[in-house]
Amino acid sequence: MRKLVVQGKEILKGEIPIGGAKNDAVALIPAALLCDNQVIIDNVPEISDINALSEMLTFLGAKYYRENHRIIINTENVVNKEIPENIATKLRASYYFMGSLLGKYKKVEISLPGGCKIGRRPIDLHLKGFEALGAKVYENENKLTILAEELKGADIHLDFPSVGATINLMLAAAKADGITTINNAAKEPEIVNVALFLNNMGARIRGAGTNTIVVKGVEELTACTHEVIPDRIEAGTYLILGALVGDPIKVTNIIPEHLEALIIKLKSIGVELEIEENAITVKGNKSYKATDIYTGVYPGFPTDLQQPFLTLLTQCHGRSKIEENIYESRFQNVTYLNEMGAKIKVTNGSTAVVEGPTKLYGEEVVATDLRAGACLLLAALIAEGETEIIDIEHILRGYEKIIEKLTNVGAKIEIREYN
Ligand code: UD1
Repeated sequence: MRKLVVQGKEILKGEIPIGGAKNDAVALIPAALLCDNQVIIDNVPEISDINALSEMLTFLGAKYYRENHRIIINTENVVNKEIPENIATKLRASYYFMGSLLGKYKKVEISLPGGCKIGRRPIDLHLKGFEALGAKVYENENKLTILAEELKGADIHLDFPSVGATINLMLAAAKADGITTINNAAKEPEIVNVALFLNNMGARIRGAGTNTIVVKGVEELTACTHEVIPDRIEAGTYLILGALVGDPIKVTNIIPEHLEALIIKLKSIGVELEIEENAITVKGNKSYKATDIYTGVYPGFPTDLQQPFLTLLTQCHGRSKIEENIYESRFQNVTYLNEMGAKIKVTNGSTAVVEGPTKLYGEEVVATDLRAGACLLLAALIAEGETEIIDIEHILRGYEKIIEKLTNVGAKIEIREYN
C-alpha cells in the first residue's frame, strides 16, 4: 500500500499547470462509443479513473491508444456485452456507458457504479429518463439491464439538475428517433463540453449550459477531434493552496469564468488574486475573514471544492460555516482536521461550523474520499511537522501528477510504500 508523507510549513512559489477536467474526460470517453469509427481526444488527464475507463472500452473490444495527453479510440470492433462488477465499480462515471450503449445498441447490461462514499448516490433520475425515451429497466441485485426496441424523443423533467443524469440523457437521446427536451438540466461546464463533443461528431444538441437542453436525434455519429476542458476543481484546489502559502502561486491553463463562485468567496475573505485570461496568481496572507459557504449546482459554489475550502476556513479569523446541499455525507475529513488541531463541529451531517484561526499539527490521517484527501493534503502543507496520509488512491484518482506539481513549487512531499 502507499501513503503520502508531507512536511508542512513551507512557503510555495511558482507555477502549477492545470490538466484536463476529470469530470469532463470521464464522460467524453464513454461518449466516444457512440461514434461509428474513430475519435481523438486531447488534454486527457493522467489519473487512474481514466485507466479504469480505458479498461472498460478495451473489454468491449474498442481500440484505445494513449500518447501523453492524447487518446485515440476506435470503436469499429466493439461488441456490446455485459460489463462486470469488477470493472464497473471502479468509478462513478462507469454509469455513462449506460447512456452511450443504450443510445447505440438499445441494450445495456452493467453493474451499478462505484465512486466516493459520500452518502446515498441514487441513479433513479438517469433510469427514469431512459424509461421516458422508451427503455425498460430491470434491476437484479447490483446488476442493471436496460432494453429498448426503439428510443423515441421525449419531454423529460429532472427533479434535480443532476450532472450525471443530464449527460446520460444527452448520450441516450443523441441517436434517438425525434426530439428530446431535458428540462431542469444541470449547467456545469463539463456538460457543455460533452454536448460540443457530440455535436462535433454530428449530433444536434442545443441549449447545453442552460436549464433546457434540446436533442434532435441523428442517424450516425462519426470521427472528430475534441479537447477536454481544464479541471476547475483541480485549479480551485491549488488556488486555495495559494491563498494559504503562495508566495505567489500562479495557476495556469485554466478558464477563470468556470471558477467564478470560488473567486468571489476568496476575494470576500481578503485573498488577493491577479486574474488573467488563462491564469490566476494568488499570494497568501494571514489576515483572512471568516465566511459562510453554501454548496449548490453550477454556477453555485461547487460541492467538490467545499472540502478543500474547509482547510482555508481553519485559518480565517472568526466563525465560519459550510452548508453542504448536494451530498449527505461530505464531512468525513472533519475528524482528521480536528485531530490536526482544527475546531470544527458538524451538525445534522450537513453543516460544519469552524472557529478560526487554529494552528495545525502533523498527524496520521486517512483520505476517506477524493476531495477529503485534497482537504487533508492542504492541511498537511500548512501544518507544523510531518503528516502521513493513507488511502491515497482516492487522491490519485482525481489529481494528475500531484506530487510532481507540488514538488515543483517547493513542497516537501513523497509517496512511500507501507504494509
Ligand atoms: C458529478 C461529479 C461530482 C460532483 C457532482 C455534483 C462526475 C463523475 N462526478 O457527480 O464530482 O460532486 O456531479 O457537482 O462528474 N441524485 C439523485 N438521483 C439521481 C442522480 C443524482 O437523487 O439519479 C442526487 C445525488 O444523490 C446527489 C445530487 O443529486 O445528491 C447530485 O448528483 P449529480 O449531480 O448526479 O452528481 P454526480 O453525477 O453523481
